Amino acid sequence: MNSWQELPAHFLVLAPMEGVTDKVFRAVIAKAGKPDLFFTEFTNVSSFASEKGRENALERLEVIDTDHPIIAQIWGKNPEHFAKLASALEDLNFQGLDINMGCPDRHVNKAGGGAAMIRTPELAVECIRQAKNSTNLPVSVKTRLGFTYVDEYKEWLPLLLAQNLAALTVHLRTRKEMSKVPAHFELIPEIIKLRDKISPDTKLIINGDIKDKSEAEKIFAKYPKIDGVMIGRGVFQNPYCFTLHQPTDEELTNLFLYHLDLYDQRKQELEQKGSRYPFEPLKHFFKLYINSSPGAAELRTKLMACKTTDEIRSVLNKK
Ligand SMILES: Cc1cc2nc3c(=O)[nH]c(=O)nc-3n(C[C@H](O)[C@H](O)[C@H](O)COP(=O)(O)O)c2cc1C
Repeated sequence: MNSWQELPAHFLVLAPMEGVTDKVFRAVIAKAGKPDLFFTEFTNVSSFASEKGRENALERLEVIDTDHPIIAQIWGKNPEHFAKLASALEDLNFQGLDINMGCPDRHVNKAGGGAAMIRTPELAVECIRQAKNSTNLPVSVKTRLGFTYVDEYKEWLPLLLAQNLAALTVHLRTRKEMSKVPAHFELIPEIIKLRDKISPDTKLIINGDIKDKSEAEKIFAKYPKIDGVMIGRGVFQNPYCFTLHQPTDEELTNLFLYHLDLYDQRKQELEQKGSRYPFEPLKHFFKLYINSSPGAAELRTKLMACKTTDEIRSVLNKK
């Protein structure tokens, strides 16, 4: 049995999000309400393979007790580097590794990784093969429907499914569509058919525009053959999105304070190693904790002016 097979029949997954789902934020989500499965942000295989980049890659791959089961997401285009990182992940306490073949970022694509893999299918297959040969962990892929055209899924997904993957996550858009159009939910029945025909044991996870557990439950009710739903940006609307709980203002403030404590700890931890944990990105998370009630806009303005976590705490205490 691999770790994917131990998940409940219909499971919820925290999406990998660069600059968001690091060790600190995963602990915040675990406290609010755990998904059935966590993903890390993505780590570049060639950084790990280089002397210069290894330390940083390993920092990105740190896990904690509460963020399990967890899948390490990796990206790149060098098959040997996939093999190198894949062989290290078991000892780093992961339950699986996932290859990113969907990221639309220009720099990532220029480097041949993420969604660019859709255009280099032979290389994509070789990277999967090298990863699989180098670890006992289950290997999965997260991808999009195609690079430019939706119809590319008719060739691209069968090719991936033929690799005997433990799981396949499909973000229901093309690379070209970025996140600008609604996800193509109408294709779910076709994708299920492909999975059932080519690789019935591969878990199928659907992703795109599904913002919380209640929406995921509707998807499962409509398409019971889907195994999992992955939620990304939904966490910004409600950090409790993996539960049916609607948090009170007080719960959100307490979660915010917890996030600040974890931020301080992580900053100290990284500074001791000579690395940085910058303050500005913390501001992306403010919207999670501040609702739209009267006074929220004013509070947000005060928070945005803060330069330290203690200043934030002081603003929150005067609320
Ligand atoms: C800030 C941000 C960072 C992301 N980073 C990654 C990543 O590292 N790996 C990945 O596969 N997808 C990444 N994604 C895409 C998400 O995992 C997900 O596929 C996308 O947001 C659609 O799902 P959603 O509508 O539930 O957000 C990122 C998305 C966002 C918004």
